[in-house]
Amino acid sequence: MITRRMLMAASAGVAMLGQTALTASAQEDTVKIGLILPMTGPFSSTGRQVEAGARTYMEMNGDTAAGKTVELIVRDDAGTADQTRRIAQELVVNEGVNVLAGFGLTPLALSVGPVLNQANIPAVIMAAATASITKESEYYTRTSFTLPQASVPVATWANENDINRVVTLVTDYGPGIDAETWFTKEFTENGGEIVEAVRVPLENPDFAPYLQRVRDSEPDAVFVFLPSGVGSLFMRQFTERGLNEAGIRLIATGDVTDDDLLNEMGEPAIGTITGHHYSAAHESPENEAFVESFEEANDGMRPNFMAIGGYDGMHLIYAALEETEGEVDGDALMEAIKGLSWTSPRGPVSIDPETRDIIQNIYMREVEEVDGELYNVEFETYEAVKDPAKAEDSAE
Ligand code: PHB
Repeated sequence: MITRRMLMAASAGVAMLGQTALTASAQEDTVKIGLILPMTGPFSSTGRQVEAGARTYMEMNGDTAAGKTVELIVRDDAGTADQTRRIAQELVVNEGVNVLAGFGLTPLALSVGPVLNQANIPAVIMAAATASITKESEYYTRTSFTLPQASVPVATWANENDINRVVTLVTDYGPGIDAETWFTKEFTENGGEIVEAVRVPLENPDFAPYLQRVRDSEPDAVFVFLPSGVGSLFMRQFTERGLNEAGIRLIATGDVTDDDLLNEMGEPAIGTITGHHYSAAHESPENEAFVESFEEANDGMRPNFMAIGGYDGMHLIYAALEETEGEVDGDALMEAIKGLSWTSPRGPVSIDPETRDIIQNIYMREVEEVDGELYNVEFETYEAVKDPAKAEDSAE
């Protein structure tokens, strides 16, 4: 039988780039993780949260795994795919990193696929969430979520709660299109009607004209996906355009009601219904400990769902290293991650051995005031949700 590993070993480029990196770091007792994130530019809040989540994991669990010292090398790609790929190459060739991680947006994650394949290096996606990314290389795994995973439960909730006519409003790129597609499929299969599908640009969005279109369509609700970080502006314009007053409900994936921005959104956010995998208000001892450590190390900043992707991404790397007993070969690490399961501050999670994506609970939440602060308060749980987009692939 010809295994995938044999095929890969047969390809020349593989050996070269991979071996150099391997020998360089195998000599030392250090495992190097290259964390590439947007630390500047419009998506810097994602970079800040993921890095802080990863560092919180190391503070709480120490900087060794399987007897090796774990070193985090953080690099800023400013949210530009060309830079992500250039930095990934540089980290592999010059720094000899054993694992790449981070990836704040879908195009950034996708840009490193060829580097992973050439160098046999695992990439832990801690933020980006378009379902198809992990199909592009066997070296991708993911500790964030996928948009189909979060959107389907929101559609189910809408179907069950007297919402019949919906306008969808999403950012016009991978995750937005995933959210629109999977919300629409579930909602219409169960009798709902989509009256309009609005897509807004990723760069510098001004939501006002799009919100006017939503208002004019007079739906029961608007279903929204926006990438982490722009929810406050959206919420302000939603109110200014009088959508609340017109009785149009806001339902969304939890990317809109980011935990770190929620308090500044203020009263207009109250009552927003979202589906997502993490809330800072999740009640568990693991989450209480995580939130406390995170806030203490970050001047009171509240962790959002990006932070938990960073935290669990580090756990995944530590656990894989324990499994391989410190072996850092990319193929060995990828084999080790498949099927790993643990109790995250978000709840029970595991890595789907077929897709390398995370299987996790999706919670329905409502924005409520608790002790003078706004939180996404969970009220319903969909347990152990797999990425529905991949479930469909395997049924084909
Ligand atoms: C993505 O680009 O994949 C992405 C970014 C921010 C989110 C979700 C997905 O909140």
